[in-house]
Amino acid sequence: MILSLHMDKFIVRGGTRLQGSVAISGAKNASLALMPTCLLTSGTLTLTNTPNNRDLGTMSRLLSSMGVGMHLEGDVLKLDASNITSHEAPYEHVKQMRASIYVLGPLVARFGNARVSLPGGCNFGPRPVDLHLKGLEKLGATIDLSGGYINASCDRLKGTHFHFDISSVGASVNILTAAVLASGHTTLTNVAIEPEVTAVANLLVKMGARIQGIGTTTLEIEGVDELHPVTEATIPDRIEAATFMLAAAMTRGDVTLTNIDASHLSAVTQSMEDSGCTIDIDGSTMRVRMNGTPEAEDITAAIYPGFPTDTQAQWAAYMLTANGASRIKDTIYPTRFGYVPELQRLGADIETGEGYCVVKGGARLTGATVMSSDLRASVSLVMAGLVADGETEILRVYHLDRGYEGLEHKLGALGAHIERVRTEVY
Ligand code: EPZ
Repeated sequence: MILSLHMDKFIVRGGTRLQGSVAISGAKNASLALMPTCLLTSGTLTLTNTPNNRDLGTMSRLLSSMGVGMHLEGDVLKLDASNITSHEAPYEHVKQMRASIYVLGPLVARFGNARVSLPGGCNFGPRPVDLHLKGLEKLGATIDLSGGYINASCDRLKGTHFHFDISSVGASVNILTAAVLASGHTTLTNVAIEPEVTAVANLLVKMGARIQGIGTTTLEIEGVDELHPVTEATIPDRIEAATFMLAAAMTRGDVTLTNIDASHLSAVTQSMEDSGCTIDIDGSTMRVRMNGTPEAEDITAAIYPGFPTDTQAQWAAYMLTANGASRIKDTIYPTRFGYVPELQRLGADIETGEGYCVVKGGARLTGATVMSSDLRASVSLVMAGLVADGETEILRVYHLDRGYEGLEHKLGALGAHIERVRTEVY
């Protein structure tokens, strides 16, 4: 597990076409949701196809601090929750990664109490957790907020009907993992249907939970008294896949992605084909080819199965090479455009408005030093470096390391000139 924090930077030299084959890792956002389900049962949960990135390291440290026995061998992660010694998620972990809040539901469901730090905001705006708390209260938990912590307690959660005012991936996961051990029947409506939520529901059923409606926005849950640990494969990372699809196309490359689930990528695939890209899907592989210049295409980031918000920065990078102007809207995070000023340092011609930006393709890009901010903004800077003249330095790549396993190695193997320079360790 990657645990230390380095102030590394990437140096990218532009001008090469990406060619060859790249294996996509397991989904970060699925792993982060699957791992805490180990708290719902005693024994050892085994997750295969686990990616090795910083966020997984953070989640591992948090679960270890609770007494979970962690063992990672290759991509096989074993989590033994037979001897839980703490029901607390301290600020030191939660401040690094808001997904730490996923331990809340399982802790209250299995142990009747939890003390979890409130997550802070992030680079693209406030990230409230009110739905997580409302859902637990509706299931009968007492929630007390004090000192920056959520204190939750309940003898036994009781089945209910909870409606999510907003479609929320994290709140859906947290409440689902709590409801499966509640007494009686729970109906959840307006549940998020991102593949990562479906992956959690499928794992819970394998563990003995009783859930109907998986993959739809309404889940009917019959609470059970206990679950049992199992082995489950982590779904492929659709956001990493989309990143490599777009990097291939913007360099006019020819790249085959392996170990993907193309059914999770329909919106991205459609928009890329509309821009003139050739995409051939064969089972769990996808070949992406781009000859000539892509046509500008507008996208609107929305909840699944819409275009993913975690891929709108990468789309902006792709559109830098397009004919014409494309409008990029984000209906989930209207301020998630921190990458724009950094791309403008490379010469990009982009205007921003309320909840959207407009990328005018064709501007000549010249390498410069740029600063990473959130995980996906950072990768859009690396992508732009692939097509800029000269060298681009991307600072603080620890943002990238949160969600991409060995990005420089995977891009380098496809022909990109990219190297990691370790600056200081702390
Ligand atoms: C998940 O975050 C992902 N993270 C994010 O990916 C992704 O951007 C996001 O879903 C949207 O798809 C993980 O899966 C670990 P939400 P999450 O709850 O669960 C509002 C990445 O790059 N909301 O679906 O935090 C919220 O403000 C990361 O991998 C409430 O109002 O997102 C937002 O506007 C970045 N109250 C909307 O819902 C709540 O209690 C969707 O957020 C919860 C959310």
